[in-house]
Amino acid sequence: MRILIEKDYDAMSGRAAALIAEEIERNPRLVLGLPTGDTPVGTYERLVHLHKEAGLDFSEVKTFNLDEYAGLSAEDPNSYNRFMWDVFFGRINIGPAHVSIPKGDDPRPDEFCRRYEEKIKAVGGIDLQLLGIGGDGHIAFNEPGSSLGSRTRVVTLAKETIADNARHFGKKELVPRSAVTMGVGTIMEARRIILIASGKKKAAVTAQFIEGPVTSMIAASALQLHPSVTVILDEAAACKLRRLDHYRWIMTLEEERAGK
Ligand code: F6R
Repeated sequence: MRILIEKDYDAMSGRAAALIAEEIERNPRLVLGLPTGDTPVGTYERLVHLHKEAGLDFSEVKTFNLDEYAGLSAEDPNSYNRFMWDVFFGRINIGPAHVSIPKGDDPRPDEFCRRYEEKIKAVGGIDLQLLGIGGDGHIAFNEPGSSLGSRTRVVTLAKETIADNARHFGKKELVPRSAVTMGVGTIMEARRIILIASGKKKAAVTAQFIEGPVTSMIAASALQLHPSVTVILDEAAACKLRRLDHYRWIMTLEEERAGK
């Protein structure tokens, strides 16, 4: 894993957006996997800025979102679909035909999940997957105990996740109890992965998934087995890493080599 430590949330977001923009410039037909949540908002802001100010072109990019709350329609104000269009897709030049988001209210959810996997395969797989991480180590909605080989499916949300996400719904009783999510196995097939984490409340889980054992109890720890993962942290999220000095040392050497 390549570990990059930035000063704060803004710098973390800028670094993630720059890496994504580089990949789109290299391959305008990039297939991009995307998360929702608070963490990626700054990255999406930066990408919108690069689109508006520097002409970053999304017209041929295809996107696949990681997850959606079960039972919510695409139009529901709390749906991840709505979030993505408000925060990102509605502000760049991407058409609805190039956007895929799991459907929370499909009458045949298992069939839907199978088709979602097929759709990813049909476009040649995900080139670059952006991820956030939950306080319990989940990536997408793969809660502790999720099989590391799991595929897109309907899952029950952990009580911790329901409590964490209650802020968006007003109270926790209103948070759906289940969700449609890509599996850990689905995510692991992406060619390149960038995980972003920010703030003190992510510090303990960040140390666990990077430096602890690979375990289904921390779904993100599976990323240790992926050949191309970049983790971008702010100082607060990085503060519990045992090898912090070593990661900083690597960054210094890389900067020297790049003549910065
Ligand atoms: C949502 C997703 C989740 C979030 C995680 C962190 O699409 O993939 O795994 O990344 O719950 O959420 P925030 O960024 O709100 O702390």
